[in-house]
Amino acid sequence: MYTNGGLVCEGVPVATISEKFGTPVYVYSQRAFIEHYNQLASEFRELNPKLCFSIKSCHNLHILRLLRDQGACFDAVSGGEVRRAVEVGTDPQDIVFAGVGKTEAELKYAVDIGVGCFNVETTTELEILENLGNQANRPVQAALRVNPDVDAGTHPYTTTGKSENKFGIEISQAKDLFLRYSQSKGLNLSGIHLHIGSPVNSTEPYVEMITKALELIADLKKADVNIELINIGGGYGANYEGDEAPSAEQYAAAIVPLLKNSGLKVNMEPGRSISANAGILVAKTTCVKKSRTKNFVITDGAMTDLFRPALYGAYHFVWPVNPGADFEPPHRSRDLKLDGTQLVDIVGPVCESSDFLGKDRWLPPVQKGDLIAVFSAGAYGATMTSQYNSRCRPPEVLVNGGKFRLIRRRETFDDLVAAEREV
Ligand code: LLP
Repeated sequence: MYTNGGLVCEGVPVATISEKFGTPVYVYSQRAFIEHYNQLASEFRELNPKLCFSIKSCHNLHILRLLRDQGACFDAVSGGEVRRAVEVGTDPQDIVFAGVGKTEAELKYAVDIGVGCFNVETTTELEILENLGNQANRPVQAALRVNPDVDAGTHPYTTTGKSENKFGIEISQAKDLFLRYSQSKGLNLSGIHLHIGSPVNSTEPYVEMITKALELIADLKKADVNIELINIGGGYGANYEGDEAPSAEQYAAAIVPLLKNSGLKVNMEPGRSISANAGILVAKTTCVKKSRTKNFVITDGAMTDLFRPALYGAYHFVWPVNPGADFEPPHRSRDLKLDGTQLVDIVGPVCESSDFLGKDRWLPPVQKGDLIAVFSAGAYGATMTSQYNSRCRPPEVLVNGGKFRLIRRRETFDDLVAAEREV
């Protein structure tokens, strides 16, 4: 939010935070995380779902703890993410473990600690889990990730529910697998997991995938196989450039009626709808330059700090932190063009032409030293950082009602070389 020409987060000027911790820096709003989580919980309350926050979208332990305190469960996709959930005191029963290529070591660890549900994607994984369950004399709880062949209309790199994607088991093969494991002592395969991509900025693909899953469930019932759980995944949109994402209320209006009398337990795996608009990346302009065709604003923030623009051409609204009262943005949109703005590319210092934070944007005049905010960076921002070009990952700061604290320090050169020095 802009007040008196400057960006503030929960009452704290973003410039104050950047001065204290330097740039680039991630700044999160505690209030936004809590609000977004509670909106979903409230809109879907009729289904009483397990809301499993997708750790991959924002994995900082302090954020996980915050959501845990709100009642969140967690969706993990690696042994590392399971450990993050455990580290913040999560009962392993409240963790769902997804992922297309889990290793035997990861599966064994997760079975040993008693992870609540495995979202299984291959027959190999079913075999391993059944063995582990037999060895432990306790059936492993599992849901089969079914690929419903539904087009979620997302970027091809984040579409997961089409037949050509590596994810899940084709719906036509699912029945046989449920039948095969229906008498198993080591594996209780009684759930269906769906996740068709993200962000899914309409409700229809959810309706389509759930309808297909309910048909499968009815068919299985006829064969005496009882499905108890449906996990409807994540992918609920966030507003990056206006109001393109359905609200929690709209998703619920489409989904809840399909499931409320089904007798099924419901899991959900929201990530970005909670985290994207709870965080920004702040960078500092290191120089500006012009070519014959372009104006460049070069910042100390790069593709290593926010990979989404480089990887997917993803759009993030970018605006100066202190543009002055005349340039407070009235709204965030791709087409925003205020008088006195100029067309620029906002780029980083990394040696790749894909290293940009925003292209062809009408920005107020910017000079060396000016701070730039990249919005909607709370999801898949910090978690997708890298050390490419030997860059240290940025710090993360959490603002809470006028106060702020460091929740991850900036990496140092010693961090960059530690694993090499010690061998
Ligand atoms: N559940 C499963 C099985 C998933 O694969 C994902 C995301 C989610 C839940 C959470 O999706 P969300 O609600 O956050 O949209 N790096 C990309 C996104 C890749 C998402 C991978 N899976 C990005 O920056 O947009």
